Amino acid sequence: MKSIILCAGKGTRLRPLTHTSAKHLIPIANKPVLFYAIEAIKDCGIKDIGIIIGETGEDIKSELKEGDKWGVSISYIEQKEALGLAHAVSVARDFLGEEKFLMYLGDNLLKNGVENYANKFIQGNYNAFVLLTEVDNPRQFGVAELEGGRVVQVVEKPKEPVSNLALIGVYFFDKNVHQAIKNIKPSARGELEITDAIQWMIDQGYKVGAEVIKGWWKDTGKPDDILEANRLILEDIERDVGGAKVDEKSQILGRVKIGKGSEIINSKIVGPVIIGERVKVVDSYIGPFTSISERVEIRKSEIECSVVLEESKLEYIKGRMQRCLIGKGVEIYHSKDLPRVYEFTLGDHSKVGLL
Ligand code: G1P
Repeated sequence: MKSIILCAGKGTRLRPLTHTSAKHLIPIANKPVLFYAIEAIKDCGIKDIGIIIGETGEDIKSELKEGDKWGVSISYIEQKEALGLAHAVSVARDFLGEEKFLMYLGDNLLKNGVENYANKFIQGNYNAFVLLTEVDNPRQFGVAELEGGRVVQVVEKPKEPVSNLALIGVYFFDKNVHQAIKNIKPSARGELEITDAIQWMIDQGYKVGAEVIKGWWKDTGKPDDILEANRLILEDIERDVGGAKVDEKSQILGRVKIGKGSEIINSKIVGPVIIGERVKVVDSYIGPFTSISERVEIRKSEIECSVVLEESKLEYIKGRMQRCLIGKGVEIYHSKDLPRVYEFTLGDHSKVGLL
């Protein structure tokens, strides 16, 4: 079995972070979201992975290279226009050949991996197998109707959903999906929908199975989703402060992981928290569900439930920061000189909430 990971999307809903970084490389608990997908695929015993890339392809290539880091072989396949998930499968046609494959949307995260479902797909001899989860807002997803473990209908973004079971971004197919894709037309949003290809397979009598996943699933398309995914991943981290320098006045409580070469001085950290390498925290408080990337500096400030990317500096901030998503090399400081003015240099689509 092979796999493709879809990474062509631009991530417009994650601006300004995605002005300078591919959305698939935004770290969740200090690890790019795409790495979680590769690990989950590798755990299924799949070695041959095709990454479908678009405008942000060069960044993704320089991060993943040929996949040696994971012991897999990565190929890159260009999708020049974002014409839908089924279109992405069609650009990967030569890479996939006649093999069965796992298709994974590169910004999706699942708690329990996908190995279990890969086995069910193979053992059950399905032509297609989808994963489902209950959602409150089915109108925003592809939605499935089940009858005894078989899928009888799938509809993309239905106005009147037949169930609250949404298709998540992990799909298994055999070669028959290629025929299905040749037979579908673009949807109202101008995309070749994978949901329509699955419906075509159902209509032709192919065996389409589904399973409602156990554990959480998150699509990290929006800033709130990044914070929530970060919270979910941090739920499972373990304490490890061995490599850090922590002075006597500091308190490190609960499940806190701190990278090598980091210094914690006169500060309080309450887990779950992850802190990368060579971070400096002085006279500060870092509260639960916070991820701090490498080489960040935090002085006389308080922050919780947030994600701070590398080389940013937060200094002398009076109010506690909460639910912040702070990019790379950002500086937030309290101006001590007169006149006491707000002084901003903000990228396009930045969002600042003031006290
Ligand atoms: C896509 C699929 C949809 C699925 C969703 C999961 O939607 O078309 O069926 O439920 O991913 O994230 P999109 O993100 O393109 O709106």
